Order: sequence, then structure tokens, then C-alpha cells
Amino acid sequence: MSGGARELTVDLGERSYPIYIGTGLLAELGRKFTDRGFSVKSPVMLVTDSAVEGLYASKAEESLRASGYTVTRAVVPSGEASKSLERLDVLVEEALKAGLDRKSVVIALGGGVVGDLAGFLAASFMRGVKFVQIPTTILAHDSSVGGKVAVNHRLAKNIIGAFHQPEFVLYDLDTLASLPLREVRAGLSEVVKHGLIWEEAFVDWCEENAEQLLSLAPDALGYALYEGCKVKSIVVSRDEKENDLRAILNLGHTIGHALEAVAGYGELLHGEAIAIGMVGSARLAARFGYSPDIAERTERIFRKFGLPVRIPDSCATENVMSAMLHDKKFTEGKMVFVVPTAIGSVEIRSDVSSEWVKEIVDGLREGKS
Ligand SMILES: NC(=O)c1ccc[n+]([C@@H]2O[C@H](COP(=O)([O-])OP(=O)(O)OC[C@H]3O[C@@H](n4cnc5c(N)ncnc54)[C@H](O)[C@@H]3O)[C@@H](O)[C@H]2O)c1
Ligand SMILES: [Zn+2]
Repeated sequence: MSGGARELTVDLGERSYPIYIGTGLLAELGRKFTDRGFSVKSPVMLVTDSAVEGLYASKAEESLRASGYTVTRAVVPSGEASKSLERLDVLVEEALKAGLDRKSVVIALGGGVVGDLAGFLAASFMRGVKFVQIPTTILAHDSSVGGKVAVNHRLAKNIIGAFHQPEFVLYDLDTLASLPLREVRAGLSEVVKHGLIWEEAFVDWCEENAEQLLSLAPDALGYALYEGCKVKSIVVSRDEKENDLRAILNLGHTIGHALEAVAGYGELLHGEAIAIGMVGSARLAARFGYSPDIAERTERIFRKFGLPVRIPDSCATENVMSAMLHDKKFTEGKMVFVVPTAIGSVEIRSDVSSEWVKEIVDGLREGKS
């Protein structure tokens, strides 16, 4: 493996799998397939999007072909709209025409959109074929680990899905160099989230190394993604199907999802929306008697990463509230929230009054402190 590469394992018994993080890893893809004993007789399908295809698809395919694999490429339009049943239908047709069989492997080369879509294809095609994740965004350190795969319905996001763990995750840091800065910032929001829910020392480190991370310095980036994937892996290993613990990964997501829905998907990137949401959750913590310093610190960190920490005027409070009430995280008149108890630890509260949430949403307006 190339210099400075890191490896960790998602511990799920016989479905355990490795995550490789480092530079120059795309060129090793074929060897990883051979090492795992994937059949060269079954065609491999590489799913990618229109922005990533021209940058990295050939490199991945060359490596596979050099190891004797037949690869077919499927390209979907870049963007959230590709996570649809219509797009899945097209992919199934392409898979059938390419002669994929039960021993075939589907590869996702791209961000979370490609990962979720190709993952759902792998979960459902012939009742499930092998799946490999090659994340190319920072945000996808989160989505590529843990096995949640899904497409959207016009009425709800991620509502048609499955749990389908990959065979391995190959995170080649070289692919991140082409990411627009706004996507870098948004992805780092989820990295910081993993610190906020689990490990104060990692939050300290992120804050100290913000510049390095924003400029994609390989050592800092490799370490940050390793730590982010590590937290996600530990949580998923203990609670794969989100019976309890896994819900802590939703820190900032109750408000964040509502903001994304109200602003219109794509207006506010996921990582941006949850940064605002995490500030909101930290303010909620003060209502439960936890230190107001948590909210101040949370806000300071996200500002340092150039992320938004206030709700845009385009999102009216009543619309944000009604989007939250329609979300899955609402039960019997009370809202369920992940609330920080300190930097690096959280608890799940199911006794959050919607009045408090409304006050917090109102208080998070531009121009308010
Ligand atoms: N399954 C999970 O557990 C999970 C967790 C978090 C998020 N998600 C999902 O992930 C999706 C968001 O993921 P995302 O932020 O990676 O979005 P994305 O896949 O849309 O990628 C963001 C943008 O960057 C482009 N891009 C990707 N890689 C690039 C590269 N290396 N260079 C240049 N451009 C590149 C894409 O074409 C796209 O325009 C959402 O659909 C969300 O629901 C899933
Ligand atoms: Zn998220």
C-alpha cells in the first residue's frame, strides 16, 4: 500500500469490512479485487456521475482491467435528482445488458449521491450483489460507511432503501483535489460532527487544523477522514440498524433536514444545513441546563470552517417548523433531538418541546447573536 495509508475495520461479524484511506489507492483497485477473490468471469459495473466520470473513471477501470476484470461504466447526472427510482430503472437495464450476474460487483465512484444510488442497486439487483464504495467527496466519508443505501421518492428523501454493507471502502485522497471549496467546507461539517458526538480531543484538533483541512493538506485530511470514519464505524458496529445508539449520528440533522427541504435541495448543501442545525442543538442543550459554552464553541468552530451558522431569510420559521413536524424524528407531540451534553458527547432527548425549538429557530436568524 502507498505511503501514509491508513486502514480501519467496520466490525460487523462475518460482514466486517475494511476502509482504506490514503493517496494513490485507485491504482490498487484491481489488486484489491483479486485479493478478495472476486470472480473475473462476472462483469463489474462502475457507477459514477457526470462530474466525476471524466476525472477518475478511467483510472479505476484501467486498474480493474489490468487485473483481468471486465468493466462496464454507467454514468448518472451529477446531483441529488439522480437518487430516484427512474434512475435506478435505467441502471438495472444497463446492468442486464452488460450481463451482470449474482457474482458481479457494483462499484460506486463518487459522492454520497452515487454511493446511495449504486448501493441500492447492489442491494436490490438479483436480491443483492457485492458492492464497493470509492468515495470522492469529503462528505462521503460518512455516507460510504455504515451500509445505509437509498433513493428518494418525490414526497420524501431516502425513503426507499436498504441496509447493504460494502465489501470494502477505498478512499483515495487524490480524488478530493478537484472538489469545489464549498463542497470541501460542507464535507468537513460532518467530520466535525463526528468529533462533537464522540471525542473532544478530535474537535480540538479540527479547530487547530482548520486551515490545513480547507487546503486539503494530505496528512491532515487523511487523519481527519480516518477519525471521522472511525467514529462512524464504532457507532455502526454497535448498532447497525439504528435501534438506539446510531441515532446520535443525527446531531444537527433535525433542524438541518428541515432547512434543506425548505431552502430547496441544492440551495443549502447538506453539510451547511447541519452546521446550522448543530448550533441549534447546542443552544437547545442550554435549555436543558448544559453549559452555554457548548453553543459558543460549536458556532466558533463552524465559522472557522467558513460554514453558515445562521438560518437564511428564505427559510421562514413556520415552514421550518412544519418541515420538522413531517420528519421521521417526531413522536407523540414531542420532538426527538440529539443534544450535546459537552463538546464530544451527546444524548438523545425525546422530551423537546416544539415551543423551545421554535424559539431557537427564530433566534438563529441572520443579524441575531
Ligand atoms: N448513506 C448514508 O449514510 C448517507 C449519509 C450522509 C449523506 N448521505 C447522502 O449523501 C448525499 C450527499 O453526498 P455528497 O455531498 O457527496 O453529494 P454529491 O454526491 O452530490 O457530490 C457533491 C457534488 O460534488 C461532485 N463531485 C463528487 N466528487 C467530486 C470530485 N472528486 N471532484 C469534483 N466534483 C466532485 C458531484 O458531482 C456533486 O456535484 C445525499 O444524497 C445524502 O442523502 C447518505
Ligand atoms: Zn448528514
